Amino acid sequence: MNTKFLLSAALVAPLALAAPAFAAGGAGHVEDVDFSFEGPFGSFDQAQLQRGFQVWYEVCSACHGMKFVSIRSLGDEMGPAFPEAQLKAIAENFEVIDEEGEYGDFRTAKVSDNFPENNGAGAPDLSLMAKARAGFHGPAGLGINQLMKGIGGPEYIFSLLTGYTGEEKEEAGTILYENTAFSSGYISMAPPLYEEIIEYQDGTEATIEQMSEDVAAFLMWTAEPKMTERKQAGFRNIGFLVLLFVLLYLTNKKLWAPIKRKEF
Ligand code: HEC
Repeated sequence: MNTKFLLSAALVAPLALAAPAFAAGGAGHVEDVDFSFEGPFGSFDQAQLQRGFQVWYEVCSACHGMKFVSIRSLGDEMGPAFPEAQLKAIAENFEVIDEEGEYGDFRTAKVSDNFPENNGAGAPDLSLMAKARAGFHGPAGLGINQLMKGIGGPEYIFSLLTGYTGEEKEEAGTILYENTAFSSGYISMAPPLYEEIIEYQDGTEATIEQMSEDVAAFLMWTAEPKMTERKQAGFRNIGFLVLLFVLLYLTNKKLWAPIKRKEF
């Protein structure tokens, strides 16, 4: 064997091995969930977004940041729609880097800020996670399944949170927890949820499944906050196209009428 071949094989092999890890929950098992926002007519469930935010706020934010999400956007009518006073109260619980102060100074967040990053625990930012882990429901190229059943990212998050088996192992000083959704089978995130870890303000029972579904829906909203508007705009545009078709058809008929009526 020549050295060139060996060299390229050595370069390609790690890529081939790494590929499944990036492929959307790859080998892991992903449960299907019927989210309210799936399908062409689906939209976000406001109460669920509010509950999902509560889960992130009270549990996940200890390790995970959400740096692309502005605090103000939680007031969006098509989103969680928290009232202004509540947004202020939420903002006061976060610290962000003060751009105007000395380098590295922190100040209390304002409603106009984004949620901060959180790199302390080595946990990835969750703002776009629901899209980063999309890919369930068959090949993305065709798009029919994705159109009817959603992109699969929130399903992956739900499956990850409910996929702990309770088994753990230690590897190089880190404890890894067995998880049926995670591509390698073992994740370094300890199971973050247990029954009644939070108390929902709307009285919903805080089971692990309920919290997982709610936070997954919320993270879909953070990844695509304008989804409902996008679908509505799509229908409006199709309505215009249908109207245009009818008008052009009638115009066409009228224009050709004198010629078509002639008998030769
Ligand atoms: C104690 C800290 C901690 C808490 C609390 C926590 N996580 Fe994590 N999370 C981590 C770490 C660390 C990783 C990276 C794990 C890895 O790659 O092995 C991670 C990874 C993830 C991933 C990415 C998995 C992947 O496919 O790469 C998701 C999604 C996630 N967490 C969601 C959540 C949600 C939702 C919550 C709240 C219910 C939460 N986490 C709470 C530490 C935490």
